Amino acid sequence: MRSPGGGEVCGKDIAEGELVEMDRTGKQIPDTGFGEDDSHASQAPGFTPAFSHGEGHQKGNYRVAVIGGDGIGPEVVNAALEVVDACGVKLDTYAYDLGAAHYLATGEVLPDEVLEELRSFDAIMLGAVGPPVGSTDVPDGLLERGLLLRLRFDLDLYVNLRPFIGTPGSLAEGYDMIVVRENTEGPYAGEGGWLRKGTVHEVATQGSVNTRFGVERCVRAAFDMALRRGDGKDTKSPKVTLVHKTNVLTYAGDLWKRTFEQVAADYPQVERNYSHVDAACIYLVEDPGRFDVIVTDNLFGDILTDLAGALFGGIGVAASANLNLARTGPSLFEPVHGAAHDIAGTGRANPVAAIRSAAMMLDYLGEEEAATRINDAVSEYLADLVGNGSSVSVSANDKPATTQPATIADTTREIAGRVKSQSQ
Ligand code: IPM
Ligand code: MN
Repeated sequence: MRSPGGGEVCGKDIAEGELVEMDRTGKQIPDTGFGEDDSHASQAPGFTPAFSHGEGHQKGNYRVAVIGGDGIGPEVVNAALEVVDACGVKLDTYAYDLGAAHYLATGEVLPDEVLEELRSFDAIMLGAVGPPVGSTDVPDGLLERGLLLRLRFDLDLYVNLRPFIGTPGSLAEGYDMIVVRENTEGPYAGEGGWLRKGTVHEVATQGSVNTRFGVERCVRAAFDMALRRGDGKDTKSPKVTLVHKTNVLTYAGDLWKRTFEQVAADYPQVERNYSHVDAACIYLVEDPGRFDVIVTDNLFGDILTDLAGALFGGIGVAASANLNLARTGPSLFEPVHGAAHDIAGTGRANPVAAIRSAAMMLDYLGEEEAATRINDAVSEYLADLVGNGSSVSVSANDKPATTQPATIADTTREIAGRVKSQSQ
């Protein structure tokens, strides 16, 4: 049997009536205790808290697969690697040629052997994949579903973490928040199909898949994240806001809301809130300080994070981490932006999103200090940039906080230089 993401759902016989816990890759996972009683310890077994590191965690010698991809992807990933190098963390990198150009040259999207190889890495860095906007050479959805979503689903990257820090000069200057986007279910799961395709009576359905297991582990990750963010912050209490559309999507919304309430009971120190997704868009624009951690479904998370990107300084500075928090395989780190073919090779790509994504990778690998150094260097650089009236962009249409172009090379050199001087 194939899952919507293309993975084997189950390779072993299960006695009738027996419930077996397994991850999306078909691997059996430790019992979470869910189903037997509702009183989870604040950390249910099987749910690794965000960014905790297993026993025997060793620093250094990280093997990282690098998928530069298309358009500005390879440029921004190289910039990120340069900055990681400047902070002294050694990575053994292995380049994988995948994406639109690779597909057009070879007909390959993501061969099974490559996917299997990728499982053996400590982490994966991805630039961006996709053909130029408007190009018809690659069928719609082929790379999205066959490459990016296949990686997210088959590697069980069940949380997409997207932090936002208000860039100086942006509408959200002075604010920060993080979106915990469910990353393996919802309308992205690929449930649906056509009837009578191509006729006047054509029917197309596209379902939204929401499992109690998938929703719970995502919501739990959001509360863990709120606690982690709360550490060392004395200004406001940690808060998680569920964003959904429970007034219309009454089945899925109800599952999300009940799960949210039940998980929240394990985190009495975390404030909780709820917003409908349409209202959340207004609040984000009018009052970006209202949110701390947002937890939401896959599609709402996709849309909200583009909006948040634009508000917090431009999509060129928005980072993301696709996390397998159970650590049954590597996690994947990528900027939120796309391939931006319109500025590829012009030197105008903004490497900040990729650099911040690399910092998330280091943090996740246990190199918190290096991650902090990179993030601090980026923040300082962005603040100075506004002072100088210059900036970098991610596409011709992007409206960053400031207007004079800086080059990718300058930006990378600046940030790497700051990282180096901090370490001396
Ligand atoms: C993102 C992107 C992807 C998504 C696309 C490329 C499949 O927009 O990472 O936000 O929709 O998740
Ligand atoms: Mn998106």
